[in-house]
Amino acid sequence: MEKIIDEKIQGQALSLNNKEGNTRKLFIESYGCQMNFSDSEIVASILAKEGFNTTQNLEDADLVLVNTCSIREKAELTVRKRLEKYNAVKRINPKMKVGVLGCMAERLKSKFLEEEKIVDLVVGPDAYKDLPNLIEEVDAGRNAVNVILSKEETYGDISPVRLQSNGVSAFVSITRGCDNMCTFCVVPFTRGRERSRDPQSILEEIDDLASKNFKEITLLGQNVDSYLWYGGGLKKDFDKASDFQKATAVNFAKLLDMVAEKHPKIRLRFTTSNPQDMTLDVIEVMAKHKNICKYIHLPIQSGSDRILKEMNRLHTRQEYFELIDNIKRLIPDCAISQDIITGFPTETEEDHQDTLSLMEYVKYEYGFMFAYSERPGTMAARKLEDDVPEATKKRRLNEIIALQRKHSSLKHEAFVGKTVEILIEKESKKSDKHWSGRNTQNIVAVFPKGDYKIGDFVMVRIDECTSATLLGEAVAYSNNY
Ligand code: SAH
Ligand code: F3S
Repeated sequence: MEKIIDEKIQGQALSLNNKEGNTRKLFIESYGCQMNFSDSEIVASILAKEGFNTTQNLEDADLVLVNTCSIREKAELTVRKRLEKYNAVKRINPKMKVGVLGCMAERLKSKFLEEEKIVDLVVGPDAYKDLPNLIEEVDAGRNAVNVILSKEETYGDISPVRLQSNGVSAFVSITRGCDNMCTFCVVPFTRGRERSRDPQSILEEIDDLASKNFKEITLLGQNVDSYLWYGGGLKKDFDKASDFQKATAVNFAKLLDMVAEKHPKIRLRFTTSNPQDMTLDVIEVMAKHKNICKYIHLPIQSGSDRILKEMNRLHTRQEYFELIDNIKRLIPDCAISQDIITGFPTETEEDHQDTLSLMEYVKYEYGFMFAYSERPGTMAARKLEDDVPEATKKRRLNEIIALQRKHSSLKHEAFVGKTVEILIEKESKKSDKHWSGRNTQNIVAVFPKGDYKIGDFVMVRIDECTSATLLGEAVAYSNNY
C-alpha cells in the first residue's frame, strides 16, 4: 500500500461528513497501511448510523477507536504507547470507552483486554458490521470482542465516510486479505483469506467519487494483481466455479481497464502489486490508458534467490528482472518503487550484496526499507532463528537506504528542465504560498500557488530537486483532463 507504515494518520473527519442529530462523539485514528485508513472510513460510516459523529478532540470523545498495525514490533509498540495517552485522558473524561480495531485486535484477541486495562472493545478487520451490537454491550458495562475472520466480507455495500479528505484523492478497496503466506508476514493471519469485491460496487463507489469531483483514485489491496471476481467466493476456490462463472470472471487487468475506460477524467493508481501475480495484461492496460499513472509499487524484499525462497516469495530474481524489463519496454517512463527487508534469518553478506546489485539494475524511484522484525506465529518465526545481529541488520539497512537515496536523486534530477503534469492536492507543509501535488510517477512537486487551486491539473516546469521533492513553477493548466 502507499506506505505510511508505522506513521500515524489521524482520522479527523471533515465536519461536512457529520450527520445532524447525531449526539455521540467518536475519535478514530489509524496506524499502519492505507487499508487501515480506508477501513476507518468504513467504521465511521457504520457508526454514523448509530448516532456517532467524529471529533478531533480526544478529550471530548465518548468512544475512542484505534485502528492498529502488527506488521513490525515497532508498529505495535507505537499503539501501546498511544493507549497510555488514552489512559491519561480517561482520568479527565471518565465516560470515554476505548476500542481496538485492525491487525493487533485480530492477533491478540481477548488477550488485549487482559494486557491493557484501558481497552473495552476488541474488533478484528472483518467484524466491523458487528460494531453496533458490540457497542451496546460496552454501553451495558461489559467488554466486547469480535475477531471472527470472514470468507465473504468486503464491505462493498458500505459507502465510506471520507475522513480527513482533501476532496481530490481517495482510496477504494478492491480486495481484502492475502493468501500469499510470505513467511515473514503477519497479514494473512490478521486479515484472513483473500477475497475480491464485486466490480459493480467498485464502479459505483468510483462513480460517486467522480460526481463529488474527486480527481484521483487508488485501488487498494494487499495484492491487487490477484483480484478475481467470479460472483463471490474465495480466490482459492476459483477452480470449483462453474463454466459460466469462469467465462465471466473479472481479473485485475479487466477491472483496471473498465475503471479507466469509464472515468477518463480521473487519474488511477493501484497498490500493492506482487511480482509473482502481476501479469503482462496489467502492464498493457496501463500502457493503453493515459489516465492510469505510470507508477508501480513492486516490492522485492530481497535480491537473493535463496532468501526469496526462504521468504516464500514465489518468483526468482531473474523473473523479477524480466517483469521490470517488460514494464520498461511497454511504459518507458514508468516509475517503480520497492519494499526491502534486511536481515531476514540466515541472510549472509553475499545475499545482502545481491540485494544491492538488484537495486543497481532496477534503479528504483524510491523505496520503503525495513529491518526484519520477527512476528509471532509466522512461518519464519516458527522455523527460523532470528539470527542476524541487530547491528548487522541496521548496517545493511543503512547501506540500502543510502543507495536508494542516490537512485532517487538521480531519478529526480532527470526531471529538472522538464515540464510535468501535477494534480494539486494540498498546501505545501513548509509554505502556505506553495501547492504540493504529484506527477504521474508519484513524485511530489512543490511550486508557488499562482491562481491555481486544489484539484487542478497543472503543467509545472521543474527547476530543481531534492532527493524527495521536485521544485518548480506552474506554467499552464493541463489540457489532458
Ligand atoms: N502486500 C502488502 C504488504 C504489506 S506489508 C501491501 O499491500 O503493501 C508491507 C511491507 O512491510 C512488506 O512489503 C515488507 O517489506 C514489510 N514487512 C512485512 N513483514 C515484515 C517483517 N516481519 N519485518 C520487517 N518488514 C516487514
Ligand atoms: Fe504479506 Fe506477502 Fe501478503 S508481504 S500481505 S503475505 S503478499
